Amino acid sequence: MALKKINPTHTKSWEDLLRHYKKIKNARIQDFFQDPNRIEDFTINWNDFYVDFSKNRIDTLTKKSLLALANECDLQNAIEQYFNGSVINETEVRSVLHTALRSSTDLGIRVDGENVFSEVSRIKTKIKDFSFEIISGARRGFTNQKFTDIVNIGIGGSDLGPNMVIDALQFYKNHLNVHFISNVDGDHVTSILQKLNPATTLFIIVSKTFTTQETLTNSETIRLWFLKNAKTEDVAKHFIAVSMNVGKAVEFGINKNNIFPMWDYIGGRFSLWSAVGLSIALGIGYDNFEKLLLGASRMDEHFKETDFSKNIPVQLALISIWYSNFFNIETEAIIPYTQYLQKLAPYLQQASMESNGKNVDRNGQPVDYNTGSIIWGQPGTNSQHAFFQLLHQGTKIIPTDFIGFKTPLHGDYNHHDKLVSNFFAQTEALMNGKNASEVRDELENLDLEKNVIERLLPFKTFDGNKPSTTILIDKLTPESLGALIAAYEHKIFVQGVIWNIYSFDQWGVELGKQLATTILDEIISDSPKLHDASTAQLLKNYVENRGNKKRS
Ligand code: F6P
Repeated sequence: MALKKINPTHTKSWEDLLRHYKKIKNARIQDFFQDPNRIEDFTINWNDFYVDFSKNRIDTLTKKSLLALANECDLQNAIEQYFNGSVINETEVRSVLHTALRSSTDLGIRVDGENVFSEVSRIKTKIKDFSFEIISGARRGFTNQKFTDIVNIGIGGSDLGPNMVIDALQFYKNHLNVHFISNVDGDHVTSILQKLNPATTLFIIVSKTFTTQETLTNSETIRLWFLKNAKTEDVAKHFIAVSMNVGKAVEFGINKNNIFPMWDYIGGRFSLWSAVGLSIALGIGYDNFEKLLLGASRMDEHFKETDFSKNIPVQLALISIWYSNFFNIETEAIIPYTQYLQKLAPYLQQASMESNGKNVDRNGQPVDYNTGSIIWGQPGTNSQHAFFQLLHQGTKIIPTDFIGFKTPLHGDYNHHDKLVSNFFAQTEALMNGKNASEVRDELENLDLEKNVIERLLPFKTFDGNKPSTTILIDKLTPESLGALIAAYEHKIFVQGVIWNIYSFDQWGVELGKQLATTILDEIISDSPKLHDASTAQLLKNYVENRGNKKRS
């Protein structure tokens, strides 16, 4: 089986949506609330989630046509293939099975003759045992001291997921401090190593391929630093790996028993549920790691089983397609109202942009419609004091997901009431804006002169009609975070299905890597070759400076 190759723009519902868009493109969200069923039709209550889509520029007809589009693109069939292990990553000839990492039932899926459920369960037990040994102090470092620090060395999907989760769930952390080294920038690794004691630090090299330049360079640097205090045979006690490439990991000095596998059916950006999440299991304990998986698996069930009209990931995806392909909007903001989710937007940037930033469809033909939105964001309320000016009064429409929690983790309602009032106020302000007569009334109350009032009016007026979706969750827990991440994973999947692109490869990152290798050779051998004039000049500047520094 393979995903169908349906050009969405050739469907009847696309035509309907184009016509419908012309009719409602200037309609006001506020006016949609004249429909007494607005809240019922445009909100979803699911477990501890309440998702409110009602402040979007959509009406019941938009919703109906978007649902028809999903059906015409045979989304249901695609979902079945996604979960049953079909080779839907066709350009790399791979299944896509991150959902199997959190499933509690054996679906009988086999890849290369191996039962996926059994293999995943075996590795979960290994993660559980290993994290217990490190946390309890049963397994120790080369001086027989307990481990105090864990360093995850990886980049992209081998960094962003665990890094975001560790930050998000720090309320649940144990005594271990988890650090992340990703950038090949030597200043990054050096600044982190300065804080660490080699005798009490465990390093996890996370690289599916074990060939990634950044990760290998950082690992080598760290090993040299470690060996200033320890012996070569101690490397095996302090370095472990998560990789598919056992040979290369062993070559590095890692004990075979300390290599946790990766599988080619798990994409890097969807891998935090696998042993790539080992640092999570270490930092918050295995039970909490299991709860994270449980939350995600509940969202998987919701996504698989729920009618599309009340399906959170499907609705998130369809509304995003509506803005991207009909309003021609290029970006979407993610604004969590908790500092703990400050790394959510960078995480979702990779998940979404590496997946859906594709300009060729599943037939290998160039697409003539928008795909992959630009994802960005920062937590509220900080972002309100940074870029919200543009959201409110700029020339662009930026659909925004507001994510917040009813319960403060540390129980401080003095702060939380203020946080939540900002969270709700922003979505209200974006939708309603403030018209000239409201501004006039306000200024008249300040007893300003008439000519001053008229001069200020345009600057103090807000157009409103800016769309937002609100995700209100009871509490930030491992379960709710798991469900939230899974919801966005499935949103990305649904978008890819409808855009008729392959979401699970990432050929676009290769060219830069290749050219960097060439340029590195030229820098090291001090012999820049032929480049375009701009690159040649940059290279010349760098090589000259490097030469001078080396001489001085
Ligand atoms: O940048 C491309 C990429 O392949 C990502 O998809 C991946 O998450 C990252 O590099 C790291 O790759 P690896 O785990 O093989 O080191």
